[in-house]
Amino acid sequence: MRLSKKVIAVAMASMMMVSMTACGNSNSEPAAAPAPATPAPAETQAAPAETQAAQAEAETVAASVAETTGEGGTVGVCIYKFDDAFMTTYRNALQEILEGKGYTVTFMDGKNDQAEQNNQINNFIAQGVDALIINPVMTSAADQIIATVKDADIPTVLINREPTAEQMSAYEKLVYVGCDARQSGTMQGELILDTENKGDINGDGKISYIMIQGDPENVDAQYRTEFSVKALTDAGMEVEQLDLQRGDWDRNKGQEIAQNDLAQFGDEIEVVFCNNDDMAIGALQAIQAAGRTVNEDIYLVGVDALDAALNEVAAGNMTGTVLNDAQGQAEGAVAAMEELLGGKTYASGEQSIYVDYVKVTPDNVADFQ
Ligand code: GAL
Repeated sequence: MRLSKKVIAVAMASMMMVSMTACGNSNSEPAAAPAPATPAPAETQAAPAETQAAQAEAETVAASVAETTGEGGTVGVCIYKFDDAFMTTYRNALQEILEGKGYTVTFMDGKNDQAEQNNQINNFIAQGVDALIINPVMTSAADQIIATVKDADIPTVLINREPTAEQMSAYEKLVYVGCDARQSGTMQGELILDTENKGDINGDGKISYIMIQGDPENVDAQYRTEFSVKALTDAGMEVEQLDLQRGDWDRNKGQEIAQNDLAQFGDEIEVVFCNNDDMAIGALQAIQAAGRTVNEDIYLVGVDALDAALNEVAAGNMTGTVLNDAQGQAEGAVAAMEELLGGKTYASGEQSIYVDYVKVTPDNVADFQ
């Protein structure tokens, strides 16, 4: 049973390789999408003689490919938007790993538009890719995405934006590889608790903070916002939220929000929580422009461990950050994809694979640079 699945996969892969070559490695255009109709599962292939010959050939190929799963297959990767600092690092890591393993890979920019990404997924399906790796634009679109890839019977790895376990349970050839965002929030809180005055710079018995949030539709933004503060209150600290605004993971928005808050609340702000580093770098520009000094009269934390943030942590201009391990997640995503291609299916409730976050402070920053 398992072998026959693999054979089918390989038979389809060989056909698809031809199609992909023919259509010139695709861009977003549906253009010359070959074999558009049904994704022709093996059961519907009738013609005995040709089919048997193809099947026999496929079996031979399968035998040689089995040992080095996936080499030479085609992979479609959908990124929610290319213009995102962390996802750029992640995308580069994915590309290097996939191409290094001999896959033909095409990356599509969803441009933060779910309708556009839906088209891209449909195009990949029409082109007959062997596997999909999808970073959804909207977590709320997960049901639709999962129904689409299930219908096309394409092994799929979701990354970066985690749907619920229930949503994923609709399709057993689907897995999520990412991080548990609660952990990163908790670590941000701990970075503040580890400072000499536990974030209470002015000694008034409470930590007064502003929260610069990512796109709140995304669980990473929700959990980091919640768990960073929860770490403080769990440690018995009193907190005061001066402001919470969405910065959509964007450096310029982080800068604007921090600038306005610094103008409005001034010295009252003791801690600036940013759901990611890009917004923290923006906030740092505003903090410096306002004449404040990180780690002396204000604390600043982010998440991701972007190169720029690591430099600021090393220079003492950020209190700390949390490594969002793009390399580890990319490796995990490719490993999960290869398991799916090898016929593995996932039981409901076991479809999330997590990579750990790591706290980054001036003490260990050199390990990450
Ligand atoms: C987060 C990351 C952000 C942003 C976001 C996109 O995990 O920390 O910087 O890339 O994903 O969904």
